[in-house]
Amino acid sequence: MPLSVYNWVIVQFWESIVRKILFASSEVHPLIKTGGLADVSASLPLALSQMQQDIRIIMPAYRATLQQLGECPLIATVKLEGYHQPVHILQAQLPDSDVAVLLVDSPEHFDRDGGPYCDTQGGDWADNAARFALFCRAVVAVATNQAGLDWQPDVVHCNDWQTGLIPALLSLERPRPATVFTIHNMAYQGLFSREVFEMLDLPEALWQIEGIEFYGMMSFMKGGLVYADHITSVSPTYAQEICHYEYGYGLEGLLALRSEQSRLSGIVNGIDTQEWNPQTDKFIGHHYSIKNLRPKSLNKKALQQHFFLPESAETLMFGMISRLVSQKGVDLTIDAIHRLLAEGKDIQLVCLGSGEAGFEQDLRVLRARFPDRVGIQFGYDEALAHKIEAGVDAFLMPSRFEPCGLNQMYSLRYGTLPVVRNTGGLADTVVDASEENRKQMLATGFKFTKPTVEDLYDTLLTVNELFSHPRLWRRMMLTAMVQDFSWINSAQAYLHLYQQLVDNS
Ligand code: ADP
Ligand code: GLC
Repeated sequence: MPLSVYNWVIVQFWESIVRKILFASSEVHPLIKTGGLADVSASLPLALSQMQQDIRIIMPAYRATLQQLGECPLIATVKLEGYHQPVHILQAQLPDSDVAVLLVDSPEHFDRDGGPYCDTQGGDWADNAARFALFCRAVVAVATNQAGLDWQPDVVHCNDWQTGLIPALLSLERPRPATVFTIHNMAYQGLFSREVFEMLDLPEALWQIEGIEFYGMMSFMKGGLVYADHITSVSPTYAQEICHYEYGYGLEGLLALRSEQSRLSGIVNGIDTQEWNPQTDKFIGHHYSIKNLRPKSLNKKALQQHFFLPESAETLMFGMISRLVSQKGVDLTIDAIHRLLAEGKDIQLVCLGSGEAGFEQDLRVLRARFPDRVGIQFGYDEALAHKIEAGVDAFLMPSRFEPCGLNQMYSLRYGTLPVVRNTGGLADTVVDASEENRKQMLATGFKFTKPTVEDLYDTLLTVNELFSHPRLWRRMMLTAMVQDFSWINSAQAYLHLYQQLVDNS
């Protein structure tokens, strides 16, 4: 996307102040992914690198990642506290970019089948605490130049609980880089017992209420929240929500305090606008744009064929691509869609997801009851995710909470109107189709407030009604498609933050 003159001037400014940034994450697309964290851990570093920042990603060398990358040169060997084997640091590049990726190679911890956090049966790895403590220690060694890379970051940017011990361990080092800890999801905190803490041989100084101790347990997440120089979350609304009981998982008091101290802020995620672009998307059969929307209906037809559903342009087609967990309101979707179908509404639902067995079973039951209305594919399928975004008319994201959410932004870019609960990043990125918003050409989707089947069902009736007015629907599609979700503004916000932290250190 061409830069406006204003943005161009700002980018030039940031380019003149080059920072060294070490970006630590447990998943990075396309090297390993379970959710949006992976997307952000690739697209944000890429955006920062395009602003000429000296950024290096650091992540575990999982078996699947090494298989994808092939042979990677060894650039350092480090001996870490509490571990007998030396750990290797390998060097690679983020595919299709020149962003450097450092891989923490410890075969005992990462060379195995299964996912980054779970085994092939879906259960958490029993040694997750040891795996990510080792990762954190390796990051600290790189960040303090103990790995001998001759490259010392000004800022270490950590993401989610798997990296929480980095700010904690770095707080004991002098000199040390500034630390930023980004919360992508408060629901996963990395809680382990005191015995595990002892087994990991972590400094006793960290075991305190104003440390990583949390009701007698060790909390990796708290390591980030207490010790990072600054905390961000992935949308302004979520950054406020987590300061309250309902969203804070017992850490709301600490978060409220850090917010009062101006140490917590919300920066909304951007998306990779190259990868998610209906004009060039390599996974979809028919490219389209605001100037030529027509091919979108061909993608819809192809999707109906894929799921063996009747081909009908007039049928309102809903899509869902999601981890099948309670956060995403999957149960609300199933029940509300069931109600609409039982009433004979002319709708279809296609769903791509994986997760809890109970939700998979409920979806199977829905499909069995309405086989010509419901299509489901379980598992992870990048190409199909793009085809669904391009093919369906409306996207369902009735999340109970949503720190940011990326799929609603992908949907908007594809002229696929999102139906969202008014929470977190969904609240910040979607404009409701109220009459007033529609009149002012601001509306981009549909919002509801209470996480109940009733509220979602009522909203879906509104969606159905609006879909029967093609002119109004098309107008909303066009408004949605011209929204700017590129990283430019948010990457600048991160740079500004890094700058402040370095100046104050
Ligand atoms: P979260 O990280 O909470 O799962 P996000 O909306 O931030 O939610 O990001 C989810 C990301 O994972 C999106 O890129 C989405 O397309 C992708 N995704 C989720 N489930 C699947 C799946 N089954 N197949 C392919 N992509 C998926
Ligand atoms: C988490 C959140 C999601 C967010 C993503 C990337 O997985 O659940 O809302 O978009 O992280 O920040």
